Amino acid sequence: MKVRRVEECRLIDLPKISSESGNLTFIESGRHLPFEYRRVYHIYDIPGGAIRGAHAHKECHSFLIAISGSFDVTLNDGHSTATFHLNRSYYGLYICPGIWRSLDNFSSGAVCLAFASDLYDEQDYWRDYDQYLTAIGLGKA
Ligand code: TYD
Repeated sequence: MKVRRVEECRLIDLPKISSESGNLTFIESGRHLPFEYRRVYHIYDIPGGAIRGAHAHKECHSFLIAISGSFDVTLNDGHSTATFHLNRSYYGLYICPGIWRSLDNFSSGAVCLAFASDLYDEQDYWRDYDQYLTAIGLGKA
């Protein structure tokens, strides 16, 4: 399995069409993101103090946008960690496969819009951090 690093993940600015009557942002699959997306979902009505994510994907690429409100995304590859604060709907965070992610610090009314390269498949998840570390070759001896 290819070793992935947090440094491969990055913020991506999206097109923003502004007018006196408001702003418009769009995403074309394969053009604005480094993958073709096959699934879109959103997370909403998030109670204060909640933590989402806490998993890594084996093959699926992701892109997260704070479509409303704000939240933090912390990425970890077993070596290094980076936290991104998302609070605008005209940019988002690209997460390559093989990276552990946790979402927290959700504001009131926060909505996370997510794009995924694959259809939902529970087999594509690592949900246990120790199993994840073992799978990427960093397990305890
Ligand atoms: P999960 O990916 O763990 O959500 P989060 O990362 O936001 O904490 O998914 C939560 C539940 O929803 C889990 O039972 C799987 C299910 N689910 C689907 O059925 N389809 C989907 O596209 C997603 C993302 C989750």
